[in-house]
Amino acid sequence: MSGGTGTQVGIVLDNVRYEYPNGVVALRGVSITMGKGETVAIVGENGAGKTTLAKHLNGLLKPTSGSVTVDGIDTRGRTAASLARLVGFVFQNPDDQLFQNQVSREVAFGPRNLGYAADRVEKLVRWAVEQVEITDLLARHPYDLGLAQRKLVAIASVVAMDTPYIVLDEPTTGQDYPGTEKLGRLVARLGSAGKTVMAITHDMEFAAEHFARIIVMAQGQVILDGSPREVFSHPSGLERASVEPPQLARLGQLMGLGECILNEEDLLRSLC
Ligand SMILES: Nc1ncnc2c1ncn2[C@@H]1O[C@H](COP(=O)(O)OP(=O)(O)OP(=O)(O)O)[C@@H](O)[C@H]1O
Ligand SMILES: [Mg+2]
Repeated sequence: MSGGTGTQVGIVLDNVRYEYPNGVVALRGVSITMGKGETVAIVGENGAGKTTLAKHLNGLLKPTSGSVTVDGIDTRGRTAASLARLVGFVFQNPDDQLFQNQVSREVAFGPRNLGYAADRVEKLVRWAVEQVEITDLLARHPYDLGLAQRKLVAIASVVAMDTPYIVLDEPTTGQDYPGTEKLGRLVARLGSAGKTVMAITHDMEFAAEHFARIIVMAQGQVILDGSPREVFSHPSGLERASVEPPQLARLGQLMGLGECILNEEDLLRSLC
């Protein structure tokens, strides 16, 4: 199936192993399938291999063994540039990504670079800043903005490329509660538009509240993979990955409430 456009929709990682040139093995046999419209949070302690995994989705890294296919296309034969229409990638640090002197230019850069016509670029920019809720920043200079807002600009600049797959590395870093909620709404909007959203996060409340699926990684492997309720019902796996469940889930466990408590409704139901 390598090379040509297959009929298979989705991203498939099959037994992916990745060794950095210095000999560090960052992924040890990772197999994951992500379908259209799925919202997936990747969690796990520092060094678990989350960013290495994410960089495999758009071909920035190629597996040392095993394979990654995006809509049936094997990334091994492709450059990251040629996968850019399929997979958008927002870096952990927005300053690795921002280099224009105005937010509107920054957000337009991606779609323009994909060769889209000017009127389409304009529509995509407007749509992207609405999705990310930063319409008010269009005329600003990215470097006059704080880290949290620069991060939102970096996200909008990738959303504007209108790719079916979007990968966000630590989107909530530096965001206050309203910023995090903004990102939660973005994930929901992109998911209901049929896009697959994968976000790496250390924020378990964000993962539990806004994603349908959570993948827990430890030492280059997938430890747990399921709905927030399934994943946060496995304290031993979470402990192995040094992941603390959301506060409410911990409270529920301490109170011996039996079921996995993820929101106030769960709590009220289990107390009644
Ligand atoms: N460029 C690199 N060269 C060599 N080793 C690397 C490189 N980047 C990451 N590593 C190593 O690979 C392993 C996985 O790193 P990775 O950045 O994928 O983890 P992560 O889960 O994203 O961590 P964090 O939560 O800190 O961002 C770690 O042992 C890390 O030190
Ligand atoms: Mg990382």
